[in-house]
Formats: sequence, C-alpha cells, structure tokens
Amino acid sequence: MIITSCGNSINLAKHIAKKLKCKFSPLTVGAFPDGDIYLRFNTDVKGKKVVIVQSFQPHPDMSLFDVIFAAETAKDLGAKKVILVAPYLAYMRQDKRFNKGECVSSKVMAKMLNNSIDKILTIDTHIHRYKSLKDIFTIPAKNLTANSLIAEYIQKHFKNELIIGPDWESYQWAEAIAKKVNVEATVLKKTRFSSRKVSVKMIKPVPIKGKNVVIVDDIISTGHTVIEAGKAAMKLGAKSVSAIGVHGLFAENAIEKLKKAGIKNVITTNCIEHKTNKIDVSSLIIDELKREKTKKKR
Ligand code: R5P
Repeated sequence: MIITSCGNSINLAKHIAKKLKCKFSPLTVGAFPDGDIYLRFNTDVKGKKVVIVQSFQPHPDMSLFDVIFAAETAKDLGAKKVILVAPYLAYMRQDKRFNKGECVSSKVMAKMLNNSIDKILTIDTHIHRYKSLKDIFTIPAKNLTANSLIAEYIQKHFKNELIIGPDWESYQWAEAIAKKVNVEATVLKKTRFSSRKVSVKMIKPVPIKGKNVVIVDDIISTGHTVIEAGKAAMKLGAKSVSAIGVHGLFAENAIEKLKKAGIKNVITTNCIEHKTNKIDVSSLIIDELKREKTKKKR
C-alpha cells in the first residue's frame, strides 16, 4: 500500500503512512505556463493499493481535479486499487436544487469520483437530505465519525458544560456527543437568508445560565452560524461560549469574527489543517486502512 497526497492533508497522510508502515510518496502537482495541470507520481504504483489522502480544502475545485487526475494516472500506471481518503469532502451541502436552475453539486462531484476512484472514506460529511452516501456514490463509500474523539475532548477540557447544535442538521453531532459526555444538549432552529446571513431561535429551552456552552457543528465556514448561536447563548446567561467544528473552513476572516463575537475557544479536528486543530482524527482512518491493508489478495 502506498500513501500519497496531492498537497492538502500532507501531515495527516505522513502520519497515517508511518503508523501503517507504508511508503509515503507525495505527488508532484503543478501547472504548465498556460494553466494546464501537471501531475506526477514519484514512486512505482504498479500492482499496489494507492491511497490518496486529500481534504477538499483549501481549493475544493482544484482538489477535485487533482484527485481525479491522480486516480486516473495511478490506474494508468497499473495500480491495483485507488482509495480516496477525503477527511473533508466539499460540495456536500449543495444536496438539493434550492433555487430553479441550480447545480446539485454533491451529485456531480460524486459522479466524477465514482468514475475514477474504487473506494472513498470520509469523516462526518454533510449528509442531510441523503439517507447515506449510497444515495450518490456507486463505489464503496464510508462516512466515519469523530463524535467519540470530540466527546473525549469535551470531557477533558470543559466543566459544567452544555452542548448546543446550532441548527437541526447538527442534531446528529450535538445529541450523539452530549450522550457520550453525559450532559444536556439542545438544538436550535436556524433560518438561512443567504450564505452570510442566518438567524437562530431556541425551540427546546434548556437552562443555560452559568453554563460553559459548547457549540458543536460539522462545518464552520463564515462563522455566522456559530456567532448567532453564541449570541443566543450569551443572552440567556451562558458563562462562556466555545465552538467545536469537525471541519474548520474559516472563510472570509471567520476566526477574527468569531473572536470579536466573544467565542472563547474555537476548536477543530485535523480533517482540514489549521492552527485551531486540537482533535486528531488519524486513528479513525488508520483503523479503516489497516483492514484494507490486510484484506486477502485476490
Ligand atoms: C450547514 O448546514 C452546516 O452544518 C453549517 O452549519 C454551516 O455550513 C456553517 O456555515 P457558516 O459558518 O458559514 O454559517
């Protein structure tokens, strides 16, 4: 088994390779002067299982392109199987035609990956309107979860805490994590007016006064969802408000905005490399790949 990466997730890829005692060989990815992609494998992949570890952030569009070119090249060079480990899979939130004429990006992305990859592993991907990844992927696709790791982190670093999911979609994280930590949780009702404007309302009131509130969500992008949820918690007398995101995208100076809004701690997993990474998801991927590595040769 060879572990490689197109540029994102290099540290995670290296660590996984070391733990699995596999060769880590990053790809050379660049561009010709006119912008055409240039990609090269720097090791022999003939007859090998090739694992591409690549989060789709930053540069989701280029990542998709790089992954497809890499997978096709690996097969062309004789690789036995190509597995994509995408700790963060982009385009998953566009899972419906919200407005007439829109592209349902998640379907298009999955179609492209189905053609070039043999198997995909991802972590806490945004499954909301789909029942499972099987709705869009025809290849074996597994959605791992960082819930236990997040729960462990909360147990170690917070006292007198209360968990809030900022919207209905986040119930699958907030409620599961609160159960593991054995604390109360509530999920807010979010109305989204645009990519940058949301409002939240508490529909299941819980005592917040004096609590250290931990907002848990899959994605923190512009930060507006966390900011609005934080404001609501502060209004109700929370002692402090922190936020944990599985995927920290932090678009448009989100970190500064979150700090300015009084969010005490912003914590993420290393699904996307960022200075806020405090929760290591590598064990989830290593366990899965161990099984893949020991699978009987056909
Ligand atoms: C949406 O459904 C996701 O679960 C997140 O709540 C959302 O992507 C966060 O976006 P933002 O940080 O831009 O409010």
